[in-house]
Amino acid sequence: MGDAKVELTTNAPGKVTFMDGCGDLPMLEVTTLWSTAEIYLHGAHVTHFRKQGEPPLLFLSQCSRFAEQQPIRGGIPVIFPWFGAREGMAQHGFARVKLWELKEFAPAPDGSVSLRLRLPDVPEGSSFPPFTADYILTVNDALTLQLAVTNNSPDEILSFENCLHTYFEVGDITAVSIQGLKGASYLDKVAGFAQKTEMDDAIRFGSEIDRIYLNTSEPVEIIDTRIGRRIRIEKQGSLSTVVWNPWISKSQQMPDFGNEEYERMVCVESGNVASNMVKLPPGETSRLTVKLSTSML
Ligand code: BG6
Repeated sequence: MGDAKVELTTNAPGKVTFMDGCGDLPMLEVTTLWSTAEIYLHGAHVTHFRKQGEPPLLFLSQCSRFAEQQPIRGGIPVIFPWFGAREGMAQHGFARVKLWELKEFAPAPDGSVSLRLRLPDVPEGSSFPPFTADYILTVNDALTLQLAVTNNSPDEILSFENCLHTYFEVGDITAVSIQGLKGASYLDKVAGFAQKTEMDDAIRFGSEIDRIYLNTSEPVEIIDTRIGRRIRIEKQGSLSTVVWNPWISKSQQMPDFGNEEYERMVCVESGNVASNMVKLPPGETSRLTVKLSTSML
């Protein structure tokens, strides 16, 4: 594409521009009456969303790679069809490093813009029953994401994990609290996957936190008193919530993450992982839908 920018226009107020992003990877820039967003076809990866008058919603590392076969660090990696480590395979599945296809783009008369991307057939998918994976993104004053997976097999169950691994931008991690998970059971990855119960009204950060909260379908909120913003995460078709901040030594170990960047981010991820893995009967579609909205405090 070189430096070409191709504007996909209609009479509706929302606009989509196709251009080269970082590392010359193809990117879609979406502009609506309320917000802007950037989406890479590499990984179907949203790297940016910003509501007018607010700081960016998503954290993106200054050290991120933008290269084929490498995940982008920050934004919203699409984790599918497995979460975490899998023997002999790449961590967090292959969807985040594949070039997705833009199938539809639909600016609506109300000013929203929706896009549908599809994961192409890839060799790594051959160990699963046949499936299609579509990612539908709607940009307006909020960002709504839906990962729809259809089991195309006539007789086999499709088992998979999924997760929208969202990195949120925060003013200062020590001024952040996460609400909505009290009473939930979680796997504490920092303590060797020990199963624990969340006793606190709000999660606060002072060391590495890496937890999979199970059987959690209610909204979760991030209260950021430094920026003065409340981020609300509402979801459907998701039973797991992952909360992660790498803190100091893990940040230093990640080559694509700045040593101090843990201070400005937190991951609150919505999906279905571990014992919440999806077991999809033949012919059925599973939909993981996440709506991210904000208000200033
Ligand atoms: C989180 C995991 O979801 O992703 C962490 O719970 C992991 O354990 C993190 O470190 C980042 O993973 P990756 O593969 O993007 O470095």
